[in-house]
Amino acid sequence: MTSAPPEHPAVPARSRRHFLADVAAFAIACGVAPLLRAEPKLAGARDARDWLSRVDTVSRKLRATAIASGDWRRDIDALNASTTLAEFLPQLQFERALKAMRRAGKDPAKTFVKLAEVDGSLTKAAFAAAYFVFAKGQVITPHGHRGMVSAHTVVGGRLRTRTYDRLAREGDALLLKPRLDTLAEPGFSAAISATEGNVHWFVAETDASATLDVIVQDIDANGRDFAIELVDPLAGSADANGTIRAPLISWERSAARYQAG
Ligand SMILES: [Fe+2]
Repeated sequence: MTSAPPEHPAVPARSRRHFLADVAAFAIACGVAPLLRAEPKLAGARDARDWLSRVDTVSRKLRATAIASGDWRRDIDALNASTTLAEFLPQLQFERALKAMRRAGKDPAKTFVKLAEVDGSLTKAAFAAAYFVFAKGQVITPHGHRGMVSAHTVVGGRLRTRTYDRLAREGDALLLKPRLDTLAEPGFSAAISATEGNVHWFVAETDASATLDVIVQDIDANGRDFAIELVDPLAGSADANGTIRAPLISWERSAARYQAG
């Protein structure tokens, strides 16, 4: 059992509903609401194999640089928001991932989906899929990514999810702008691009909280070399524009600061 990390003073808890309401208000202010309304709703995936196939198609485009990471983020989020992934979990080996949950320690259990076992045509998929299954209080500490992007769909429990846009690197720190702070439940989806939501932080509020992640590596996103960059967003105060200078920190420091208790 661990205590939840301290609240970020600049990031009040907000629901996804409020977040979407903000987007709608912004669209009206910009005069683009009619365009948004005219956009057809993306049809969700029919079944697990259809979902995997569509994830593979958009991820292949990203790896071929036919689309940018921001396009990939939007496409994956739209697909996952319109797909009831919970119905496909038996086909996507969720049971095996649930069994891997451990109560000891503060790290969730990571279990890869064996894609070729679900669909024999995916022996050379452009992406990997993996579950993170958390016991209550387990934490993925704040970090950003280089050389990859990922998408995170909640498929069980409830996770406090915080994301930040990565504006730049400045010396031994990342400049971040808070993007989202919500209690995420099944159906919630948050993908990252090189910039948007690139830094994220997950704290499980219940046992068996779980995300199904899609991961695309070997791409140029803040450079091609794969790296996980741990940051301390609580260490920096926001400037007048809401930008936080978050120091890069070690694994040891990150665990001590964000998984203590
Ligand atoms: Fe991550």
